[in-house]
Amino acid sequence: MDKKRVFLTRTLHDFALKELKKKYRIEVHSGKIPIPRKKLASKIKEVEGLICFPYDVIDKALIDKANNLKVISTYSVGFDHIDVEHAKTRKIRVGYTPEVLTDATADLAFSLMLDIMRRVSEGDRIIRNGDWRQIYGAYDYVGTDLQKKTLGIFGLGRIGTAIAKRAKAFDMKLIYHNRKPVSKSKERELGIKFVSFNQLISQSDVISIHVPHTKQTDLLFDKKVFSKMKKTSFLINTARGKIVNEMDLVSALKKKEIAGAGLDVFASEPIGKRHPLTKIQNVTLGPHIGSSTMETRAKMAEITVNNLHLGIRGKKPKFSVGY
Ligand code: DGY
Repeated sequence: MDKKRVFLTRTLHDFALKELKKKYRIEVHSGKIPIPRKKLASKIKEVEGLICFPYDVIDKALIDKANNLKVISTYSVGFDHIDVEHAKTRKIRVGYTPEVLTDATADLAFSLMLDIMRRVSEGDRIIRNGDWRQIYGAYDYVGTDLQKKTLGIFGLGRIGTAIAKRAKAFDMKLIYHNRKPVSKSKERELGIKFVSFNQLISQSDVISIHVPHTKQTDLLFDKKVFSKMKKTSFLINTARGKIVNEMDLVSALKKKEIAGAGLDVFASEPIGKRHPLTKIQNVTLGPHIGSSTMETRAKMAEITVNNLHLGIRGKKPKFSVGY
């Protein structure tokens, strides 16, 4: 019997490719990343399985090109790049990689928080530019304590919860906003209080975003929100770039309407050195590395392959979006 065909929009770990090759006829895109849409459209036509990445836009028009596709397995926890509803109407399963990247992403969010509040990267830039002239002055390179500050978690899901646990160890006060409050016992365990969105933005010393990018969260953090935040507050975003209006953020940072930001995600990635955010000192930037540890990325590959195995046989992937 002919092997089923699987297309990968980019290569994965050797062990994952080996595993896939045992069962399928695989083809891996090499060359321009993201894969040009035209090429992806021609591949999706032929294959039973697709492995994609968070920057591959798998929309309705693309899904409609598929003749035999059974499963889309994304190497990410985010799935806002896939028209999941449409895939469902075409009986195409969608797999994703939650859980395994919770700690890695929470660590990164927390490190951005420490970095921007204690001006670590800024200090590094100062030294590399040969600008370190004075030592130990009363006002030299002073940052902000984390202890006793209020951390506002926007989205108390898996990653938000992992952030709360880390923040507790730093003796921070915790508030959160979700569409629905979590259980009272979880609130007690974490020592966290539910507040409205307006309270979250006006009371927090640091806000960390942990919600998906949806119609409701699109560009939610805009100039109106920044004007309600404390002038001494910080914004951390390791979720999705499009939740923040970047130009409004640039303006708020320049005008010192907020104190700083730590960002691992951007509206359009990668950003280049001409991006206005790179011209601002009170911001720490990361190249979308929330889940990027050796251990986590390997686990994500394992799940991506397992999701594909199940989906291609018409079964529900272990980590499945919806259907
Ligand atoms: C994801 O998995 O969606 C993350 O953004 C990757 O870091």
